[in-house]
Amino acid sequence: MQKILDLISEEMMKAFEAAGYEAALGKVTLSNRPDLCEYQCNGAMAGAKKYHKAPIMIAQDVAGQLQESSVFTEVSAVAPGFLNMKVSETFVRDYLRGMRDSEKFGLQMPEKVKKIIIDYGGPNVAKPLHVGHLRSGVIGESIKRICRYAGHDVIGDIHLGDWGLQMGLIITELQKRDPGLVYFDDSYEGEYPQEAPFTISELEEIYPTASAKSKEDEAYKADAMEATYKLQSGVRGYRALWDHIIRVSVADLKKNYVNLNVEFDLWKGESDVHDIIPGMVEEMKKGGYAYESDGALVVDVKEETDTREVPPCMILKSDGASLYNTTDLATILDRMTQYHPDKLIYLTDKRQELYFEQVFRCARKTGLVNTDTELVHIGFGTMNGKDGKPFKTREGGVMRLENLIREIDEEMIRKIRENAETKGYAIDEKEAEQTAKVVGLAAIKYGDLSNQASKDYIFDLDRFTSFEGDTGPYILYTIVRIKSILGKYMEQGGKLTDIVIEKAVNDSEKSLMLELSKFNAVMGMAYEEIAPHRICAYIYDIANAFNRFYHETKILTEEDETKKAGWIALLMLTRDVLEVCIDLLGFTAPERM
Ligand code: ARG
Repeated sequence: MQKILDLISEEMMKAFEAAGYEAALGKVTLSNRPDLCEYQCNGAMAGAKKYHKAPIMIAQDVAGQLQESSVFTEVSAVAPGFLNMKVSETFVRDYLRGMRDSEKFGLQMPEKVKKIIIDYGGPNVAKPLHVGHLRSGVIGESIKRICRYAGHDVIGDIHLGDWGLQMGLIITELQKRDPGLVYFDDSYEGEYPQEAPFTISELEEIYPTASAKSKEDEAYKADAMEATYKLQSGVRGYRALWDHIIRVSVADLKKNYVNLNVEFDLWKGESDVHDIIPGMVEEMKKGGYAYESDGALVVDVKEETDTREVPPCMILKSDGASLYNTTDLATILDRMTQYHPDKLIYLTDKRQELYFEQVFRCARKTGLVNTDTELVHIGFGTMNGKDGKPFKTREGGVMRLENLIREIDEEMIRKIRENAETKGYAIDEKEAEQTAKVVGLAAIKYGDLSNQASKDYIFDLDRFTSFEGDTGPYILYTIVRIKSILGKYMEQGGKLTDIVIEKAVNDSEKSLMLELSKFNAVMGMAYEEIAPHRICAYIYDIANAFNRFYHETKILTEEDETKKAGWIALLMLTRDVLEVCIDLLGFTAPERM
């Protein structure tokens, strides 16, 4: 379906033309004075110069053409030359009926389907997930769903940090604790045990211990670097131990991501491209791009137009070891050869912005990607505490993701009990816990996604979990309210099939209809701008419009059956649109709350 604003603009353009003016002047926008009108057009102002005419006269000419229009009920020319419009109830009704009857509410599908790879999550193996990884997972998941819904072919890759120094640190610590482990016996040629010599909780304790030691003890750090080197050069026992670390850690990560409603298509990591690094480096040298500088191998990536210093991209360290850059470049090569993507999107903290600029330039310069391959880095801001500083635990430590989620769930349970108490109904404790999880996730995700990604935001437990205001729970509360009305309607013997949306009978109903009609435009924008916050703003407006309508309208006691059925049909569309939208944000609604 065409966007509603485009249909309205077309009608206006025809009127400009019929009145003898250039059609392009008839572009319509949403009104910035909703108290006066729903839509407006400033074309008469713009045309004044060209036609040597007072804008109000042009506006009057155009308004004259639209008196019989089926799109508008009101078109007025107001001084000095604005056109203010209200659209007709039938026009809006028909548009919503069209949405109802179309796939994806009439969202236009792309002419060319793009292959898009989204690199998000990016946890580091054996390090516990913390809130920093939360944003990458939450925003990336939503972007993946938005791109897919927009009709593109999307692959989400977790890109595990599984090849760096942290692996060497863990191996070193394991060796110090138990040097007799068979993995460290160079002469051992047999099969290695199936069972890992540690559990996930041990692993999570081992890494911070090792990391702390390496910061104080030079020799320890040297050992860890040596272990990393041995692992990367393929020493059997080290590889076997690494396999264990990956398996134990990935199993735990999978559980965490399931709880977050985040799903990856690929569980690849930095280690997966290890074998193609030498070939890639060779090509970069042969092409004359990579050269030696202070022993390291680098590619220049600065450009004449740079207004800041963009240092060379380092490909190999002086000891020949690969770096974060190297695996990222090799991963681009791997993705291009295996999946031929049109677009690569990366989600990390915005502090990696310069880093990605270097990597992207290097990939282009050395021909790893095609000239038209789009490379996009979405750098997000920091999640801060109420003190405006990066979010910490009460004790001042790094907040682990699972603890954060637990805190939210507890607060949610409290609110659900409180709500039941004020409303005077009994709750089943098991159900309350289940519901708290669902609503808690919405609180976290909506709290994050409703901000423009690049901005820092304040994690405010109290505000995020509130049932009122611009929050996830408010949206869910609205959906639950609609479901409850639909349930009661059915209890009264009403049927949800064969009913159609009718013309709006009051202002609040029409406002709700106009909000819903923006679906197509909002989805287009969310995709083009890679911006989930557009969807949050849309559903917040819908929820507000719905609740106003609900408070002003006695739906279930209405005696005119056609009217009532029309409202129920409108409620169903509202529920469906909201549910599709929250799915695109990565959360779901409970049946009750
Ligand atoms: N593991 C990295 C980190 O924790 C994030 C990886 C992001 N993706 C990438 N292709 N570099 O900072």
